[in-house]
Amino acid sequence: MDEILKTIEGYGIVPVVKIEKAADAPSLGKALLAGGLPLAEITFRTAAAEDAIRTLAEGMPEMVVGAGTVLSTEQAKKAIGAGAKFIVSPGFNPKVVSFCRERGVPVIPGVNSPTQIEAAMECGLGIVKFFPAEESGGRAFLTAVSAPYEGIKFIPTGGVNATNLVSYLSLKNVAACGGSWMVKGELISAGKFEEITRLTAEAVRVLLGFTLAHVGINEEKAEDASKSVDLFSRLFRFPVAEGQSSYFLGQKEFEIMKSPGRGQKGHIALGVNDVERALFYLGRQGIGPVAGTEKVKDGKLTIAYLDREISGFAIHLVKKG
Ligand code: 3PG
Repeated sequence: MDEILKTIEGYGIVPVVKIEKAADAPSLGKALLAGGLPLAEITFRTAAAEDAIRTLAEGMPEMVVGAGTVLSTEQAKKAIGAGAKFIVSPGFNPKVVSFCRERGVPVIPGVNSPTQIEAAMECGLGIVKFFPAEESGGRAFLTAVSAPYEGIKFIPTGGVNATNLVSYLSLKNVAACGGSWMVKGELISAGKFEEITRLTAEAVRVLLGFTLAHVGINEEKAEDASKSVDLFSRLFRFPVAEGQSSYFLGQKEFEIMKSPGRGQKGHIALGVNDVERALFYLGRQGIGPVAGTEKVKDGKLTIAYLDREISGFAIHLVKKG
């Protein structure tokens, strides 16, 4: 798959921007960056779109900037000339699609029917925008088309926000979600960039959904583990479930290891909505998985240890649900 599309899938959210003044572009870029989402689709709904794309593409190379609401090949040409790394349109326009494909620029046309999905597949596309998502049947539509169109992924956009984001992203055929909720035009025009950063950071936090799953405590030997387990269950009435290499206590919030497991003191398991996306996010901060610790179920990662300990604890991610 194209690198830009992979990056979009990794971030999981495409902020859809309507910007009136290109001079606001650097502050917008900084606000998105500070919120943890260096990605923007600048829509051709204002005269400032082309200049805003150019300003961001030239001035902030760490940002992935694309163009949205591209309705003609003229606009696509302007967007690509200004440095847009991807092109999005609300509907399926075969001319725009072939124009972009001929130039090797990833194009994400909008669809909301089986006919349009097939037209996109016919052009060799693997990712399309599902627009307008909420009005076109939302999750139910995406679930219904997942069986006949197995190879294609969607970017639902239109009515997506921090409340329904995770329910869309949990679908196997959803590559990312698009939306304007964290970058509303009014916020940009009013210079409310701190609010944009706050809403962006909230969107990233909701998307990742890091929570404490359990704490794993290392013991030297099985006898020591058994003593700790007795104490925990006697004092706090925690139910005990014995496994091969450890005991789980309570609602599995504690794991007592029968021999030293990973981590100097033990491990902390963090629940996440999607292990792949969490690893993409952590990868940008220089943290990766420990090779060989990954577990996969139904083609999705469910567990991976991180190559960084914190306070003597190894950390592993575990998929929620
Ligand atoms: C778009 O062009 O992609 C949509 O207008 C964004 O939809 P939203 O404003 O409902 O997020």
